[in-house]
Amino acid sequence: MTGVGALQTEAAVLEVRGLKKHFPVRTGLLRRVRGWIAAVDGVDLVIERAGTAHGLAGESGSGKTTFIRTLLGLTPPTAGEVRFWGRDVRGLRGADLQAFRRRVQIVFQDPTGALDPRWTVGRAVAEPLRVHRPDLPEAERRARVAELLEQVGLLPEHARRYPHELSGGQRQRVVIARALALEPKFLVLDEPTSALDVSVQAQILNLLQDLRERLGLTYLLISHDLAVIDFLCERTSVMYRGRIVEEGPVARVLARPAHPYTKALIASLPRMEAGRLPEPQLKAGGTAPAGGCPLAPRCPAAQAVCTREDPPFIDLGGGHRARCHFAGEV
Ligand SMILES: Nc1ncnc2c1ncn2[C@@H]1O[C@H](COP(=O)(O)OP(=O)(O)O)[C@@H](O)[C@H]1O
Ligand SMILES: [Mg+2]
Repeated sequence: MTGVGALQTEAAVLEVRGLKKHFPVRTGLLRRVRGWIAAVDGVDLVIERAGTAHGLAGESGSGKTTFIRTLLGLTPPTAGEVRFWGRDVRGLRGADLQAFRRRVQIVFQDPTGALDPRWTVGRAVAEPLRVHRPDLPEAERRARVAELLEQVGLLPEHARRYPHELSGGQRQRVVIARALALEPKFLVLDEPTSALDVSVQAQILNLLQDLRERLGLTYLLISHDLAVIDFLCERTSVMYRGRIVEEGPVARVLARPAHPYTKALIASLPRMEAGRLPEPQLKAGGTAPAGGCPLAPRCPAAQAVCTREDPPFIDLGGGHRARCHFAGEV
């Protein structure tokens, strides 16, 4: 098939190439720029197929939130390209930009901060409809709100409640209902269960799984917890200091992690059967050597080459690759 239409449908859902976001570090009374923080430092990430879920793992401060803010155009990139369904998001204007804003929605970690305490649940869920579909008659808007509440496991009566009358899990359901109001195709989930009790986390993860299947949604799921990514995702990327250090099918990455950083993330997962705390796998702190691997000062497996040369990605087959000099030796 040829032609622009065919190209659009065959394009990856999301394609990120060489994305960078550097923040200036300012100090002193004159707020001079003393250096730069490479919060996102050359990220490639591709989600090929619609209806799949891709994880992005990494500890706090690794650049996950900055990555998604840059991805969604909420902050301009320092460099790189972002394509959703084959189209560069920076080129979008007018009606195309409006359509993009409807198709891609984000759910943040903290449902309490995401909801205005003075607004009823019904008003919060109806807000995107008011903004994007002002022509919709009041009765239809109400019916749509009731339908959305039902979709996330709430009752029509919840529309009259205020956020403080709900549990944390119910609040996150409201946030998800609001994100679904405009029938998006793609959801970015930034630590969607991290603020919730463990028992509630599982319910929200089940809801997200169910919605993905019923609505054919594609997810980019950000989490510091690989167990959450394992539950929902087919593939995952692992981020350390603004760079992807490993990626592949989730089952493979978990069973045979090839990067010392991924191994440490897995070791940090609470394990029921172990009955003991995991052994620390990474050393604390340390300054990354110029030109070398950023993990070298913390890495238990570091050799002389690691402080001299920044490792390239090593292809491990089956869509699995890792950025470590010794990735091929596991
Ligand atoms: N607006 C900003 N200005 C300066 N530095 C920032 C800004 N936002 C984030 N950072 C820095 O970028 C790095 C990555 O942060 P973030 O993206 O929030 O990581 P994560 O979501 O993985 O915890 C951190 O060192 C953080 O301090
Ligand atoms: Mg974050």
